[in-house]
Amino acid sequence: MNENKKYCILTYGCQMNVHESEKLAGFLQERGYTETQEQNQADVIVFNTCCIRKSAEEKILGNIGAVKPIKKKNPNLIVAVCGCMSQQTDMADYIQKTFPFVNIIFGTHNLNKFGNFLDEYEQTHKKIKDIEQQVIVDENVPMYRTSGYNGWVNIMYGCNNFCTYCIVPYVRGREVSRRPQDIIDEVESLLKTGKYKIITLLGQNVNSYGKDLGGDITFAKLLKQIAELPYEFKIKFMTSHPKDLTDDVIDVIAENDKISKTIHLPVQSGSNAILKKMNRNYTVEHYLNVIDKIKSKIPNVSLTSDFIVGFPSETQEDFEATCNLVKRVGYNGIFAFMYSPRPGTPAAQMQDQIPLDEKNKRVNALLAIEKQISHQKTNEMIGNIENCIVDKVLDDGNYLVKTDSGKTIIVGNAILEPYSFVNIKIDKLIDNQLYGTVVN
Ligand code: 5AD
Ligand code: SF4
Repeated sequence: MNENKKYCILTYGCQMNVHESEKLAGFLQERGYTETQEQNQADVIVFNTCCIRKSAEEKILGNIGAVKPIKKKNPNLIVAVCGCMSQQTDMADYIQKTFPFVNIIFGTHNLNKFGNFLDEYEQTHKKIKDIEQQVIVDENVPMYRTSGYNGWVNIMYGCNNFCTYCIVPYVRGREVSRRPQDIIDEVESLLKTGKYKIITLLGQNVNSYGKDLGGDITFAKLLKQIAELPYEFKIKFMTSHPKDLTDDVIDVIAENDKISKTIHLPVQSGSNAILKKMNRNYTVEHYLNVIDKIKSKIPNVSLTSDFIVGFPSETQEDFEATCNLVKRVGYNGIFAFMYSPRPGTPAAQMQDQIPLDEKNKRVNALLAIEKQISHQKTNEMIGNIENCIVDKVLDDGNYLVKTDSGKTIIVGNAILEPYSFVNIKIDKLIDNQLYGTVVN
Protein backbone atom coordinates (compact mmCIF):
# COMPACT_ATOMS: atom_id res chain seq x y z
CA MET A 1 0.00 0.00 0.00
CA ASN A 2 0.95 3.63 -0.22
CA GLU A 3 0.72 4.94 3.33
CA ASN A 4 1.89 8.53 3.64
CA LYS A 5 1.71 8.93 -0.12
CA LYS A 6 -0.32 11.82 -1.48
CA TYR A 7 -2.16 12.75 -4.65
CA CYS A 8 -3.16 16.06 -6.18
CA ILE A 9 -5.89 16.16 -8.84
CA LEU A 10 -6.25 19.27 -11.00
CA THR A 11 -9.73 19.42 -12.51
CA TYR A 12 -10.69 21.65 -15.45
CA GLY A 13 -14.03 22.23 -17.16
CA CYS A 14 -17.57 21.16 -16.36
CA GLN A 15 -19.35 19.35 -13.51
CA MET A 16 -18.95 16.06 -15.37
CA ASN A 17 -15.19 16.45 -14.90
CA VAL A 18 -15.60 17.46 -11.26
CA HIS A 19 -17.51 14.22 -10.71
CA GLU A 20 -15.06 12.13 -12.73
CA SER A 21 -12.26 13.49 -10.55
CA GLU A 22 -14.17 11.97 -7.62
CA LYS A 23 -13.83 8.64 -9.42
CA LEU A 24 -10.10 9.19 -10.06
CA ALA A 25 -9.72 10.01 -6.36
CA GLY A 26 -11.61 6.78 -5.55
CA PHE A 27 -8.91 4.70 -7.25
CA LEU A 28 -6.15 6.57 -5.41
CA GLN A 29 -7.84 6.33 -2.01
CA GLU A 30 -8.36 2.61 -2.60
CA ARG A 31 -4.59 2.32 -2.96
CA GLY A 32 -3.90 4.14 0.31
CA TYR A 33 -3.10 7.60 -1.06
CA THR A 34 -4.49 10.71 0.65
CA GLU A 35 -5.34 14.07 -0.87
CA THR A 36 -3.16 17.19 -0.97
CA GLN A 37 -3.71 20.52 -2.71
CA GLU A 38 0.07 21.03 -2.94
CA GLN A 39 1.70 19.72 -6.12
CA ASN A 40 5.11 19.93 -4.37
CA GLN A 41 3.98 17.41 -1.77
CA ALA A 42 2.29 15.00 -4.16
CA ASP A 43 3.45 11.54 -5.19
CA VAL A 44 0.83 11.47 -7.96
CA ILE A 45 -0.41 14.51 -9.92
CA VAL A 46 -3.42 14.00 -12.21
CA PHE A 47 -4.59 16.53 -14.80
CA ASN A 48 -8.26 15.92 -15.58
CA THR A 49 -8.55 18.09 -18.67
CA CYS A 50 -11.08 20.04 -20.77
CA CYS A 51 -10.94 21.14 -24.41
CA ILE A 52 -14.24 23.00 -24.88
CA ARG A 53 -12.40 26.24 -25.74
CA LYS A 54 -8.83 26.94 -26.82
CA SER A 55 -8.27 29.09 -23.73
CA ALA A 56 -8.90 26.05 -21.49
CA GLU A 57 -6.46 23.98 -23.46
CA GLU A 58 -3.71 26.61 -23.40
CA LYS A 59 -4.04 27.03 -19.66
CA ILE A 60 -3.83 23.28 -19.06
CA LEU A 61 -0.81 22.82 -21.34
CA GLY A 62 0.91 25.65 -19.43
CA ASN A 63 0.11 24.00 -16.11
CA ILE A 64 1.37 20.59 -17.25
CA GLY A 65 4.60 22.28 -18.39
CA ALA A 66 4.98 23.81 -14.92
CA VAL A 67 5.26 20.31 -13.39
CA LYS A 68 8.65 19.72 -15.06
CA PRO A 69 10.75 21.27 -12.23
CA ILE A 70 8.67 19.41 -9.60
CA LYS A 71 9.34 16.13 -11.37
CA LYS A 72 13.04 17.01 -11.55
CA LYS A 73 13.17 17.43 -7.77
CA ASN A 74 11.10 14.29 -7.20
CA PRO A 75 11.82 11.75 -9.96
CA ASN A 76 9.42 9.24 -8.35
CA LEU A 77 6.48 11.55 -8.94
CA ILE A 78 3.82 9.98 -11.19
CA VAL A 79 2.22 12.45 -13.63
CA ALA A 80 -1.04 11.43 -15.32
CA VAL A 81 -3.07 13.33 -17.93
CA CYS A 82 -6.64 12.29 -18.79
CA GLY A 83 -10.04 13.67 -19.77
CA CYS A 84 -11.43 15.42 -22.83
CA MET A 85 -8.21 17.01 -24.05
CA SER A 86 -6.32 13.69 -24.19
CA GLN A 87 -9.21 12.09 -26.05
CA GLN A 88 -8.81 14.43 -29.07
CA THR A 89 -7.20 12.99 -32.19
CA ASP A 90 -3.37 13.10 -31.98
CA MET A 91 -3.42 14.97 -28.65
CA ALA A 92 -2.06 12.06 -26.59
CA ASP A 93 0.94 11.86 -28.97
CA TYR A 94 1.42 15.61 -28.72
CA ILE A 95 1.36 15.51 -24.91
CA GLN A 96 3.81 12.61 -24.86
CA LYS A 97 6.21 14.41 -27.20
CA THR A 98 5.94 17.85 -25.59
CA PHE A 99 6.01 16.68 -21.97
CA PRO A 100 8.21 13.56 -21.82
CA PHE A 101 7.91 13.58 -18.01
CA VAL A 102 4.20 12.62 -18.23
CA ASN A 103 3.94 8.93 -17.27
CA ILE A 104 0.30 7.96 -17.86
CA ILE A 105 -2.06 9.28 -20.54
CA PHE A 106 -5.62 8.04 -20.95
CA GLY A 107 -8.92 9.42 -22.25
CA THR A 108 -12.54 9.85 -21.23
CA HIS A 109 -13.73 6.33 -22.06
CA ASN A 110 -11.26 4.30 -20.00
CA LEU A 111 -11.21 6.19 -16.73
CA ASN A 112 -12.38 2.92 -15.16
CA LYS A 113 -8.89 1.52 -15.86
CA PHE A 114 -7.04 4.23 -13.92
CA GLY A 115 -6.38 1.82 -11.04
CA ASN A 116 -4.83 -0.73 -13.43
CA PHE A 117 -2.73 1.98 -15.06
CA LEU A 118 -1.39 3.04 -11.66
CA ASP A 119 -0.58 -0.53 -10.62
CA GLU A 120 1.07 -1.27 -13.96
CA TYR A 121 3.17 1.88 -13.87
CA GLU A 122 4.29 1.27 -10.29
CA GLN A 123 5.46 -2.22 -11.26
CA THR A 124 7.08 -1.58 -14.63
CA HIS A 125 7.89 2.16 -14.66
CA LYS A 126 7.05 2.05 -18.36
CA LYS A 127 5.03 4.92 -19.83
CA ILE A 128 1.38 4.21 -20.53
CA LYS A 129 -0.68 5.75 -23.32
CA ASP A 130 -4.12 4.21 -23.71
CA ILE A 131 -6.96 5.98 -25.52
CA GLU A 132 -10.16 3.94 -25.90
CA GLN A 133 -12.64 4.83 -28.67
CA GLN A 134 -15.68 2.98 -27.31
CA VAL A 135 -17.89 4.41 -24.51
CA ILE A 136 -17.75 1.97 -21.58
CA VAL A 137 -20.35 2.12 -18.79
CA ASP A 138 -18.75 0.58 -15.72
CA GLU A 139 -20.91 0.40 -12.59
CA ASN A 140 -18.04 -0.70 -10.35
CA VAL A 141 -15.88 2.40 -10.22
CA PRO A 142 -14.87 3.53 -6.70
CA MET A 143 -15.70 7.12 -5.74
CA TYR A 144 -14.27 9.51 -3.21
CA ARG A 145 -16.85 12.29 -3.06
CA THR A 146 -15.57 15.81 -2.44
CA SER A 147 -18.59 18.03 -3.09
CA GLY A 148 -20.04 18.34 0.43
CA TYR A 149 -23.78 17.80 0.70
CA ASN A 150 -24.11 17.66 -3.08
CA GLY A 151 -23.93 14.20 -4.62
CA TRP A 152 -23.26 14.10 -8.35
CA VAL A 153 -24.91 11.21 -10.16
CA ASN A 154 -24.24 10.46 -13.82
CA ILE A 155 -27.35 9.40 -15.65
CA MET A 156 -25.87 9.25 -19.14
CA TYR A 157 -22.67 9.71 -21.06
CA GLY A 158 -21.91 11.31 -24.44
CA CYS A 159 -23.90 13.46 -26.87
CA ASN A 160 -25.54 12.83 -30.25
CA ASN A 161 -26.23 16.42 -31.21
CA PHE A 162 -23.15 17.58 -33.07
CA CYS A 163 -23.70 21.30 -32.64
CA THR A 164 -21.23 22.59 -35.23
CA TYR A 165 -19.04 24.48 -32.75
CA CYS A 166 -18.80 21.72 -30.17
CA ILE A 167 -16.05 19.18 -29.60
CA VAL A 168 -17.95 17.22 -26.94
CA PRO A 169 -19.45 14.54 -29.25
CA TYR A 170 -15.94 13.82 -30.58
CA VAL A 171 -14.35 13.37 -27.16
CA ARG A 172 -17.29 11.94 -25.22
CA GLY A 173 -18.82 9.66 -27.86
CA ARG A 174 -22.49 8.86 -28.52
CA GLU A 175 -25.25 8.93 -25.89
CA VAL A 176 -25.35 5.95 -23.54
CA SER A 177 -27.84 5.95 -20.65
CA ARG A 178 -27.27 4.14 -17.40
CA ARG A 179 -29.99 1.71 -16.36
CA PRO A 180 -32.68 3.40 -14.24
CA GLN A 181 -32.31 0.93 -11.37
CA ASP A 182 -28.55 1.51 -11.17
CA ILE A 183 -29.19 5.26 -10.93
CA ILE A 184 -31.90 4.89 -8.30
CA ASP A 185 -29.73 2.50 -6.25
CA GLU A 186 -26.88 5.01 -6.33
CA VAL A 187 -29.14 7.91 -5.32
CA GLU A 188 -30.66 5.86 -2.52
CA SER A 189 -27.26 4.78 -1.22
CA LEU A 190 -26.27 8.46 -1.02
CA LEU A 191 -29.48 9.57 0.70
CA LYS A 192 -29.28 6.74 3.23
CA THR A 193 -26.01 8.13 4.60
CA GLY A 194 -27.85 11.33 5.61
CA LYS A 195 -24.90 13.32 4.27
CA TYR A 196 -26.30 14.26 0.87
CA LYS A 197 -29.13 16.78 0.60
CA ILE A 198 -28.83 17.71 -3.05
CA ILE A 199 -28.60 15.14 -5.81
CA THR A 200 -27.43 16.58 -9.12
CA LEU A 201 -28.09 14.39 -12.15
CA LEU A 202 -25.49 14.80 -14.86
CA GLY A 203 -25.55 14.31 -18.60
CA GLN A 204 -24.69 16.36 -21.68
CA ASN A 205 -28.33 16.28 -22.75
CA VAL A 206 -30.38 14.87 -19.87
CA ASN A 207 -33.69 15.29 -21.72
CA SER A 208 -32.82 12.48 -24.09
CA TYR A 209 -32.14 10.13 -21.18
CA GLY A 210 -33.35 6.60 -21.87
CA LYS A 211 -33.88 6.90 -25.62
CA ASP A 212 -31.08 4.40 -26.23
CA LEU A 213 -32.41 1.90 -23.65
CA GLY A 214 -35.31 0.74 -25.77
CA GLY A 215 -37.94 0.55 -23.00
CA ASP A 216 -40.46 3.19 -21.94
CA ILE A 217 -38.19 5.00 -19.48
CA THR A 218 -37.92 8.75 -20.03
CA PHE A 219 -36.20 11.57 -18.19
CA ALA A 220 -39.55 12.67 -16.74
CA LYS A 221 -40.20 9.17 -15.37
CA LEU A 222 -36.70 8.95 -13.93
CA LEU A 223 -37.13 12.31 -12.17
CA LYS A 224 -40.45 11.19 -10.74
CA GLN A 225 -39.07 7.88 -9.46
CA ILE A 226 -36.14 9.61 -7.77
CA ALA A 227 -38.43 12.24 -6.23
CA GLU A 228 -40.50 9.44 -4.69
CA LEU A 229 -37.58 8.24 -2.55
CA PRO A 230 -38.60 8.87 1.07
CA TYR A 231 -35.87 11.29 2.16
CA GLU A 232 -35.62 15.06 2.55
CA PHE A 233 -33.55 16.28 -0.40
CA LYS A 234 -33.59 18.29 -3.63
CA ILE A 235 -32.92 17.08 -7.15
CA LYS A 236 -31.03 19.22 -9.62
CA PHE A 237 -30.00 18.29 -13.14
CA MET A 238 -27.95 19.52 -16.04
CA THR A 239 -27.81 20.10 -18.96
CA SER A 240 -31.10 20.44 -20.85
CA HIS A 241 -31.46 20.93 -24.59
CA PRO A 242 -34.30 23.22 -25.76
CA LYS A 243 -35.27 20.87 -28.60
CA ASP A 244 -35.80 17.96 -26.18
CA LEU A 245 -37.28 19.62 -23.08
CA THR A 246 -40.76 18.13 -23.30
CA ASP A 247 -44.00 19.03 -21.48
CA ASP A 248 -43.87 15.91 -19.31
CA VAL A 249 -40.55 17.08 -17.84
CA ILE A 250 -41.92 20.58 -17.19
CA ASP A 251 -44.98 19.03 -15.49
CA VAL A 252 -42.92 16.76 -13.25
CA ILE A 253 -40.79 19.72 -12.15
CA ALA A 254 -43.89 21.84 -11.52
CA GLU A 255 -45.64 19.13 -9.50
CA ASN A 256 -42.75 18.05 -7.31
CA ASP A 257 -41.38 19.96 -4.33
CA LYS A 258 -38.21 17.91 -4.31
CA ILE A 259 -37.22 18.97 -7.83
CA SER A 260 -35.28 22.20 -8.09
CA LYS A 261 -37.03 25.08 -9.83
CA THR A 262 -33.79 26.24 -11.40
CA ILE A 263 -33.52 25.28 -15.05
CA HIS A 264 -30.39 25.73 -17.12
CA LEU A 265 -31.55 25.87 -20.72
CA PRO A 266 -28.71 26.94 -23.02
CA VAL A 267 -29.97 28.80 -26.09
CA GLN A 268 -26.55 29.86 -27.48
CA SER A 269 -27.94 32.56 -29.82
CA GLY A 270 -31.03 34.69 -30.36
CA SER A 271 -30.74 34.63 -34.16
CA ASN A 272 -32.42 31.93 -36.24
CA ALA A 273 -29.76 32.20 -38.96
CA ILE A 274 -27.01 31.49 -36.42
CA LEU A 275 -28.98 28.74 -34.63
CA LYS A 276 -29.30 27.02 -38.01
CA LYS A 277 -25.57 27.26 -38.68
CA MET A 278 -24.95 25.95 -35.17
CA ASN A 279 -27.16 22.92 -35.95
CA ARG A 280 -29.19 23.52 -32.80
CA ASN A 281 -32.40 22.17 -34.36
CA TYR A 282 -34.79 24.76 -32.89
CA THR A 283 -35.81 28.33 -33.63
CA VAL A 284 -35.96 31.35 -31.35
CA GLU A 285 -39.76 31.07 -31.51
CA HIS A 286 -39.67 27.45 -30.32
CA TYR A 287 -37.29 28.38 -27.50
CA LEU A 288 -39.48 31.26 -26.32
CA ASN A 289 -42.51 29.02 -26.49
CA VAL A 290 -40.78 26.53 -24.16
CA ILE A 291 -39.71 29.39 -21.85
CA ASP A 292 -43.26 30.75 -21.69
CA LYS A 293 -44.64 27.29 -20.93
CA ILE A 294 -42.09 26.86 -18.14
CA LYS A 295 -42.92 30.28 -16.69
CA SER A 296 -46.64 29.64 -16.70
CA LYS A 297 -46.38 26.18 -15.10
CA ILE A 298 -43.54 27.02 -12.68
CA PRO A 299 -44.12 30.63 -11.62
CA ASN A 300 -41.13 30.74 -9.23
CA VAL A 301 -38.71 29.32 -11.80
CA SER A 302 -35.16 30.57 -12.04
CA LEU A 303 -33.72 30.39 -15.55
CA THR A 304 -30.12 30.35 -16.69
CA SER A 305 -28.50 29.88 -20.09
CA ASP A 306 -25.27 29.64 -22.10
CA PHE A 307 -24.46 31.95 -25.02
CA ILE A 308 -21.80 31.88 -27.69
CA VAL A 309 -21.02 35.25 -29.27
CA GLY A 310 -18.99 35.81 -32.42
CA PHE A 311 -19.98 32.53 -34.08
CA PRO A 312 -18.78 32.61 -37.74
CA SER A 313 -20.79 35.12 -39.85
CA GLU A 314 -22.63 36.56 -36.79
CA THR A 315 -23.67 40.09 -37.84
CA GLN A 316 -24.37 43.03 -35.57
CA GLU A 317 -28.10 42.31 -36.15
CA ASP A 318 -27.69 38.68 -35.14
CA PHE A 319 -25.92 39.82 -31.99
CA GLU A 320 -28.61 42.37 -31.21
CA ALA A 321 -31.21 39.60 -31.56
CA THR A 322 -29.28 37.71 -28.85
CA CYS A 323 -29.33 40.81 -26.61
CA ASN A 324 -33.08 41.15 -27.16
CA LEU A 325 -33.65 37.54 -26.25
CA VAL A 326 -31.71 37.98 -23.00
CA LYS A 327 -33.93 40.97 -22.13
CA ARG A 328 -37.10 39.16 -23.17
CA VAL A 329 -36.45 36.03 -21.05
CA GLY A 330 -35.06 37.82 -17.99
CA TYR A 331 -32.52 35.22 -16.91
CA ASN A 332 -31.35 34.88 -13.33
CA GLY A 333 -27.88 34.27 -14.69
CA ILE A 334 -26.05 33.56 -17.94
CA PHE A 335 -22.72 32.22 -19.10
CA ALA A 336 -21.44 34.00 -22.21
CA PHE A 337 -18.48 32.71 -24.20
CA MET A 338 -16.56 34.00 -27.20
CA TYR A 339 -16.71 31.46 -30.00
CA SER A 340 -13.53 29.40 -30.04
CA PRO A 341 -12.78 27.30 -33.17
CA ARG A 342 -12.19 23.66 -32.24
CA PRO A 343 -10.17 21.43 -34.58
CA GLY A 344 -12.30 18.90 -36.46
CA THR A 345 -15.63 20.65 -35.86
CA PRO A 346 -17.58 22.01 -38.86
CA ALA A 347 -17.74 25.61 -37.58
CA ALA A 348 -13.95 25.84 -37.45
CA GLN A 349 -13.98 25.52 -41.27
CA MET A 350 -16.74 28.12 -41.85
CA GLN A 351 -16.15 31.37 -43.70
CA ASP A 352 -16.41 34.78 -42.00
CA GLN A 353 -14.72 34.05 -38.69
CA ILE A 354 -15.22 37.06 -36.40
CA PRO A 355 -12.11 38.95 -35.22
CA LEU A 356 -11.17 38.53 -31.56
CA ASP A 357 -11.63 42.19 -30.59
CA GLU A 358 -15.18 42.15 -31.99
CA LYS A 359 -15.99 38.95 -30.07
CA ASN A 360 -14.58 40.58 -26.97
CA LYS A 361 -16.74 43.68 -27.43
CA ARG A 362 -19.87 41.58 -27.91
CA VAL A 363 -19.30 39.32 -24.94
CA ASN A 364 -18.77 42.32 -22.67
CA ALA A 365 -21.89 44.04 -24.01
CA LEU A 366 -23.98 40.92 -23.39
CA LEU A 367 -22.64 40.47 -19.88
CA ALA A 368 -23.38 44.14 -19.09
CA ILE A 369 -27.03 43.64 -20.09
CA GLU A 370 -27.25 40.53 -17.99
CA LYS A 371 -25.66 42.20 -14.99
CA GLN A 372 -28.45 44.76 -14.92
CA ILE A 373 -31.17 42.14 -15.32
CA SER A 374 -29.83 39.80 -12.67
CA HIS A 375 -29.37 42.70 -10.25
CA GLN A 376 -33.02 43.58 -10.79
CA LYS A 377 -33.99 39.91 -10.32
CA THR A 378 -32.06 39.76 -7.06
CA ASN A 379 -33.83 42.92 -5.88
CA GLU A 380 -37.18 41.34 -6.71
CA MET A 381 -36.37 38.51 -4.28
CA ILE A 382 -36.75 40.89 -1.32
CA GLY A 383 -39.91 39.97 0.60
CA ASN A 384 -39.98 36.39 -0.74
CA ILE A 385 -39.97 33.36 1.49
CA GLU A 386 -37.64 30.70 0.06
CA ASN A 387 -36.79 27.19 1.09
CA CYS A 388 -33.00 27.21 1.53
CA ILE A 389 -30.24 24.84 2.58
CA VAL A 390 -27.96 25.82 5.46
CA ASP A 391 -24.59 25.93 3.72
CA LYS A 392 -22.26 26.90 6.57
CA VAL A 393 -21.72 28.72 9.85
CA LEU A 394 -19.78 31.96 9.36
CA ASP A 395 -16.97 33.08 11.66
CA ASP A 396 -19.24 35.70 13.27
CA GLY A 397 -21.85 33.06 14.19
CA ASN A 398 -24.24 34.02 11.40
CA TYR A 399 -25.22 31.45 8.80
CA LEU A 400 -24.82 31.31 5.05
CA VAL A 401 -27.84 29.68 3.43
CA LYS A 402 -28.40 28.98 -0.26
CA THR A 403 -31.60 29.37 -2.24
CA ASP A 404 -32.74 26.81 -4.79
CA SER A 405 -31.03 28.88 -7.49
CA GLY A 406 -27.76 28.99 -5.55
CA LYS A 407 -28.03 32.60 -4.26
CA THR A 408 -26.46 33.07 -0.85
CA ILE A 409 -28.30 34.74 2.05
CA ILE A 410 -26.80 35.72 5.40
CA VAL A 411 -29.04 34.77 8.32
CA GLY A 412 -28.49 35.81 11.96
CA ASN A 413 -30.39 35.45 15.26
CA ALA A 414 -31.00 31.75 14.86
CA ILE A 415 -29.63 28.33 15.65
CA LEU A 416 -29.62 26.27 12.50
CA GLU A 417 -28.43 22.80 11.71
CA PRO A 418 -25.86 22.73 8.91
CA TYR A 419 -27.17 21.09 5.70
CA SER A 420 -30.81 21.20 6.81
CA PHE A 421 -33.57 22.93 4.85
CA VAL A 422 -35.15 26.08 6.33
CA ASN A 423 -37.66 28.67 5.17
CA ILE A 424 -36.09 32.10 4.98
CA LYS A 425 -37.75 35.47 4.48
CA ILE A 426 -35.50 37.67 2.38
CA ASP A 427 -35.26 41.09 4.09
CA LYS A 428 -32.73 43.22 2.26
CA LEU A 429 -29.93 43.51 -0.28
CA ILE A 430 -26.80 45.38 0.76
CA ASP A 431 -23.74 45.60 -1.53
CA ASN A 432 -25.07 42.72 -3.62
CA GLN A 433 -25.49 40.49 -0.54
CA LEU A 434 -28.92 39.25 0.54
CA TYR A 435 -29.90 39.11 4.23
CA GLY A 436 -32.82 37.19 5.67
CA THR A 437 -34.54 35.75 8.75
CA VAL A 438 -35.90 32.32 9.60
CA VAL A 439 -39.66 31.84 9.36
CA ASN A 440 -41.41 28.82 10.84
N1 5AD B 1 -16.58 28.04 -28.28
C1 5AD B 1 -17.15 28.75 -27.27
N2 5AD B 1 -18.04 28.22 -26.40
C2 5AD B 1 -18.37 26.92 -26.57
N3 5AD B 1 -19.23 26.13 -25.90
C3 5AD B 1 -19.21 24.90 -26.45
N4 5AD B 1 -18.34 24.87 -27.47
C4 5AD B 1 -17.81 26.13 -27.59
C5 5AD B 1 -16.88 26.73 -28.46
N5 5AD B 1 -16.32 26.05 -29.46
C6 5AD B 1 -20.08 26.61 -24.79
C7 5AD B 1 -21.56 26.42 -25.07
C8 5AD B 1 -21.94 25.30 -24.15
C9 5AD B 1 -20.99 25.54 -22.99
C10 5AD B 1 -20.79 24.37 -22.09
O1 5AD B 1 -19.78 25.88 -23.61
O2 5AD B 1 -22.24 27.61 -24.70
O3 5AD B 1 -23.29 25.34 -23.75
FE1 SF4 C 1 -22.00 20.15 -27.35
FE2 SF4 C 1 -24.40 20.59 -28.47
FE3 SF4 C 1 -23.86 18.22 -27.30
FE4 SF4 C 1 -24.16 20.40 -25.76
S1 SF4 C 1 -25.77 19.47 -27.08
S2 SF4 C 1 -22.51 18.84 -25.60
S3 SF4 C 1 -23.29 22.00 -27.07
S4 SF4 C 1 -22.88 19.06 -29.14
